[in-house]
Amino acid sequence: MVYPQRLAKRTVEILNETTDIPATPDAVLRPEVGQRVTLQIEDIAFGGEGVGRVEGFVVFVPLVIKDETVEVTITEVKKNFARAELVNVINPADSRIDPECQYYGDCGGCQYQHMAYEAQLEMKQKQVADLFERIGGFTQDKVTPVIPCPQPYHYRNRILVRSQWNGKAKKLLVGFRKRNSHWVVEIDECKIAEPALNAQIPEVRANPPKRGGIKVNLRITPEDWTVQDHSFFQTNYFMLPRMVEAVRKVFQSSGSDYLIDTYCGVGFFAIELASLAKRYAGVEYDKGAIKAARENATQFGGDNGEFIEGRTEDLLPSLLAKFDAGKTSVILDPPRKGCAPAALEQLREVRPSQVIYISCHPATLARDLNILCADGVYRLEQVIPVDMFPHTQHVECITDLRLNSPSEPESQEPQD
Ligand SMILES: C[S@@+](CC[C@H](N)C(=O)[O-])C[C@H]1O[C@@H](n2cnc3c(N)ncnc32)[C@H](O)[C@@H]1O
Repeated sequence: MVYPQRLAKRTVEILNETTDIPATPDAVLRPEVGQRVTLQIEDIAFGGEGVGRVEGFVVFVPLVIKDETVEVTITEVKKNFARAELVNVINPADSRIDPECQYYGDCGGCQYQHMAYEAQLEMKQKQVADLFERIGGFTQDKVTPVIPCPQPYHYRNRILVRSQWNGKAKKLLVGFRKRNSHWVVEIDECKIAEPALNAQIPEVRANPPKRGGIKVNLRITPEDWTVQDHSFFQTNYFMLPRMVEAVRKVFQSSGSDYLIDTYCGVGFFAIELASLAKRYAGVEYDKGAIKAARENATQFGGDNGEFIEGRTEDLLPSLLAKFDAGKTSVILDPPRKGCAPAALEQLREVRPSQVIYISCHPATLARDLNILCADGVYRLEQVIPVDMFPHTQHVECITDLRLNSPSEPESQEPQD
């Protein structure tokens, strides 16, 4: 299938957002706000902040690289950790580079433009492996190297341009959210967005929303797939062939005949894998997406399956009953919050032979895998991180879980 043919569209929506909070280590001696200190960066935590210590007290500082020596100013002190802003890099890492974006550091969208792309990939692999070990209890060797993006800049096919009334300046700000702030930073161009989206930003500025607080959704929908304005579609077309190839390989290696694609959106994975399965079924609660999935199946020749509208947790029992569990693979691709506990319980009860869990939120992913693998019901074969979002803290993961036969030892069961 051809991915990069697209149509630019503009819609308006108001969304909720979530933020990842880094781990809270134990306190030793607290620094003070305003204090200037020198730190050795020990690691980069998931979310993008470097971890250093002042007299044993943990300090989080953005825009740094592991092993760098940096001068920082303490900006916030909590019970168990402090936050700081970078003042000066005393000893830069070899991988430190000049960011491409003029708003980098001020805008909150990207976290890693100061780091060579190869170094970003290695760091993300380690972050995923650490997180899976910490939250999921899985050994680090399960995590493969990150599949890189062939186009690390100008890849995003969707951006949300924010508007905010600045009363003091008596001005409507139009741009992205500032780093560590609820304010909007004005931008004219985003280096990770596709050029066709950047071309629309001046138009938004010229015709801004009537009031602050409105987000303008700029999106390039694929020409070959049917996708309604508010339905989900993957945000990086350049990575889609690599992502699909990885999921196809994982499915093929199971030898399954049947595929259940849950949280299926417009049918993307089910249709891409349809030719490898005898039969498939997809489930999704977005009515428009299910209608589109049926149209996409007709367009791409996925006529050996069906798409059903409803909640995964409600429909999974009847879907699982359709096929022989011993020859069935189930794709889970839920939103960031992860799967409903009822869906995980259903899988543990009916025991399809493979679960392919795809997620852009490694923490909820590791939590849910831990549930699936409890008591040795499933075992984690591998975690394949996919760099869908270069220069940002985000990373997509494809995971392959296999059913343990009852006679198999429970040695692969994760620790608590
Ligand atoms: C991350 S997207 C994945 C979509 C699709 N797999 C793809 O690759 O295009 C998650 C999808 O799950 C849907 N969704 C969220 N909660 C759901 C639920 N409880 N049951 C079914 N679908 C749900 C959303 O509407 C969205 O389309």
